Amino acid sequence: MTDSVSKALAHLDARWDEYLGQLVELSRIPSVSAEPSPSAGVNASARKVCDLMTAAGLESCRVIEFPGGHPYVYGEWLHAPGAPTVLLYGHHDVQPPGRPEKWKTPAFEPTVRDDGRLYGRGVVDDKAGVMVHVAACASYLQSGGKLPVNVKFIVEGEEETGSSSLEAFLREYREQLAADVIVLTDTSNYDAGIPSITYALRGIVGIRVEVQALDHPVHSGMWGGPVPDPVIALCKAIGDLVNDEGILNLPVWADVRPLAIKDREALTALPFSEKQFREQVGLVEGATLIGDQRMPVWGRVWRQPAVTVLAFEARPFEGSTNQIIESARARISVRIVPDQDPQKIQDAMVRHFEMRVPWGLKVTVEREHAASWWMTDPKGPAFEAASRAMTKAFDHECVFIGCGGSIPFVDPFAKVLGGVPALLMGLEDPPCNAHSENESLNIDDWKKGTRAAVYLYDELSRLPR
Ligand code: BES
Repeated sequence: MTDSVSKALAHLDARWDEYLGQLVELSRIPSVSAEPSPSAGVNASARKVCDLMTAAGLESCRVIEFPGGHPYVYGEWLHAPGAPTVLLYGHHDVQPPGRPEKWKTPAFEPTVRDDGRLYGRGVVDDKAGVMVHVAACASYLQSGGKLPVNVKFIVEGEEETGSSSLEAFLREYREQLAADVIVLTDTSNYDAGIPSITYALRGIVGIRVEVQALDHPVHSGMWGGPVPDPVIALCKAIGDLVNDEGILNLPVWADVRPLAIKDREALTALPFSEKQFREQVGLVEGATLIGDQRMPVWGRVWRQPAVTVLAFEARPFEGSTNQIIESARARISVRIVPDQDPQKIQDAMVRHFEMRVPWGLKVTVEREHAASWWMTDPKGPAFEAASRAMTKAFDHECVFIGCGGSIPFVDPFAKVLGGVPALLMGLEDPPCNAHSENESLNIDDWKKGTRAAVYLYDELSRLPR
């Protein structure tokens, strides 16, 4: 271990409470990017991240705004001539908190419980990921005055809503952001304590569909029979989105890249227990795991498309009465995989509702965000460096995994930077409940992940150019 690494690690060890305090402060800010811009919460978290980067010793730290979007934060340290440049990425925005009564402690009052986890909205997705790199940079800069690599650090403010300013951001900053490798801490570990590098992300496309039958609700006894119910019509079309096995029933499978033999072998080599999987998601007893039964369970999540109804509105129970209501609407997303084209899938979703809603009702479909999938072959010196860094920090062999979630930044950035390696290091774990109530961070793995970043910057300094 080089002297600068041991000094940085000692510095980190001495300051855990300080960094945990900073993470708690950052997580108190309700930076919900689903709010319209400008959002006081997202703006406040951007300023906070900028202050944390400055305090860490990064330079030229600033908040970058785009009209109608939520702010990015940028900081850099570029005084390692001849060494590679690492583009660090994280996001400071969070999902909406969900139902307050389901939180054991309030979403924006981050709380450490005696299970060794910090609870709060955004703690793991992705404020701890941001803090991994703030703390790792600070540890080098404050213990030895320098980093082993050049660093450009971007923290996005609208990842959780599909990164709508990403194109504009790329157009304006692509040259300034040139780098030899991209590093992110916004994905999962296969399990707590198992360091994991993600080599594939699903993409996502969404639509909103509204079905209208009437211009006003009517008495279901006076008119029910001949008059079509828009809720049933919409449900029929939604039900048609999957077949009886729960497999996506859109004509979009031709482009799904088959699982290569080596990928299947790698997947089945990972420890897997269906019982544990069911417990982790909290599946009711007797329920079937749906989808393509020839594919291992994680293969269905990582390498096959999946449809979800994100929202459905008809008439709430409260105030409901014997009526045929006038309309119903839904938000629906499809997670997409290599080699599916986001536009083609969105077109297929639109066509599905235009064709499958029965009885000639009025159907209006709007397109929402579309983000591409990303996949790489995790081979070569950068992945070897990351694997060594993670293995050392966790004292456990690093594994390579896919991911069913999406990070819109990764594919376009890796392409614009000429196909440089993107190292996606895990932090989330099966019990973390990201996007749901009682989101939490495994504090021990966060510390290990930060130590892994310290090792990684050092490992990357020796990357062949
Ligand atoms: N951290 C997640 C990505 C992720 C998901 C990692 C699941 C590991 C497991 C990321 O912040 C996220 O949630 N992304 C959104 C993106 C979407 C709005 C375009 C997602 O996947 O829903």
